[in-house]
Amino acid sequence: MGIKQATVPPRNNLNVITDESSVTNVVLDAMARTPDARLREVMVSFVRHMHAFAREVRLTEEEFHLGIDVLNRIGQASNASHNEAVLFSDAIGFSTLVCLLNNGKNGATETAAALLGPFWRMNSPLTPNGGSIVRSDTPGPALFANCLVTDTQGHPLAEVEVDVWQASPIGLYENQDANQAEMNLRGKFTTDSDGRFWFRSVKPAGYPVPTDGPVGDLLRAQDRHPYRPAHLHFLCFKSSYKTLITQVFVSGDPYLSSDAVFGVTEHLIGNYRQGEGAPPAADVTGPWFVFDYTFLMERGKAELPKPPIK
Ligand code: BEZ
Ligand code: FE
Repeated sequence: MGIKQATVPPRNNLNVITDESSVTNVVLDAMARTPDARLREVMVSFVRHMHAFAREVRLTEEEFHLGIDVLNRIGQASNASHNEAVLFSDAIGFSTLVCLLNNGKNGATETAAALLGPFWRMNSPLTPNGGSIVRSDTPGPALFANCLVTDTQGHPLAEVEVDVWQASPIGLYENQDANQAEMNLRGKFTTDSDGRFWFRSVKPAGYPVPTDGPVGDLLRAQDRHPYRPAHLHFLCFKSSYKTLITQVFVSGDPYLSSDAVFGVTEHLIGNYRQGEGAPPAADVTGPWFVFDYTFLMERGKAELPKPPIK
């Protein structure tokens, strides 16, 4: 279904706007001179779609001012440790759309990629395989993760740098919580010659996205809950491979089909199961869990995203 486009030119030779139907072409004419071809393409399409949107819903002046206020409040709610703009994009499914368009052979096939989210930090502590990312007292059952990174043909990839991050089972990332040590539940691992990396953590739990800003207002207005299903985040980096940013979710989580930020795809529901027999570490007393997963990296450009927070 195409978007209705304004095609009516102004009724004068001056290219001056005459009425509602002529404004779009005057704006598009002004942008047609943009020297950068990609900027021209993106902005021309953006303007067409924005104008079509306003026409389609017959946007009122009150709603227009409300929208401007929301944009301003998104900016005001963002700072070095909180990124409301990313959260907004996530909460309307836009981040997932962009992710799916740009991964899996540019949208042609299923992909292991998922949205980055607002909580990735640069410079996670380098941690040896087998090490723990629990850096301060953290509740929750122990989790022992055993992961493999391969190329799309299944060949193991050595020397992949893998960032891991997760929220504490109390529902907050360390940067949101003064009671957690700096970089708690964050670490950077390197795959060995068999493409493997492994580490200890705590089993993730579902948690709500921040709701004290405009995104919270939107969720409440739409009668949507703010919860994400339990997950671990991963960022796999190796030169000549497209950086794989993803999340792996706990199967059976009650929020898998209603993730507040639409990050769940079928491929990303992982295998977390209760361990049996002697636990892998002497200090584990209660139930413990194991997690295994294989990450597939496509050939492509290795580049890191701009960190949403510092
Ligand atoms: C996260 O899982 O870290 C997350 C992703 C999107 C929005 C909020 C949080
Ligand atoms: Fe998360």
